[in-house]
Amino acid sequence: MSSAIYPGSFDPVTYGHFDIIQRAAKAFEHLTVSVLNNKVKSPLFSVEERVRMLEEVCKDIPNVTIDSFSGLLADYARKKHTDVIIRGLRAITDFEYELQMAQTNRKLVDHVDTVFLTTSLEYAYLSSTTVKEVAAFGGDITQFVPPCVAKKIYAKFQQREP
Ligand code: PNS
Repeated sequence: MSSAIYPGSFDPVTYGHFDIIQRAAKAFEHLTVSVLNNKVKSPLFSVEERVRMLEEVCKDIPNVTIDSFSGLLADYARKKHTDVIIRGLRAITDFEYELQMAQTNRKLVDHVDTVFLTTSLEYAYLSSTTVKEVAAFGGDITQFVPPCVAKKIYAKFQQREP
């Protein structure tokens, strides 16, 4: 188990994601954090913007690479010759969807396993969606996302930083 993929929307990356990235990077020789290019969702940030933010946030972790993908995660894992997918679990409400996804991915590529890392308690409540909502109404998001990300969110909503 030397390399792993941590896939997600990362719209945008939060301290909760960063916590998972740091811990997964300690457990695996190499970690690819990969942004899904989802044509169905309407993200706040483009894939390129999300990749750039992740690159900035992860710049001091030498064994982390940032990438993006389209289509099925299982196909992407096969293409990357990686057997391990990392996902963070915040609460029991995440579990059903995550279990279904892990089992589907394993059906699609039988050597792919999903490794779940439980989110650190201080980030258990945190999601990109709530961060965007707080920012949209002018709230302070500096405790939820790294400073460079907060700046980009405020710029999207054309607000001054608190
Ligand atoms: O950060 P998210 O939005 O919870 O990440 C979800 C993600 C990107 C991991 C998931 O939607 C995904 O893997 N999408 C790719 C399409 C796919 O493979 N779907 C089948 C799995 S059930």
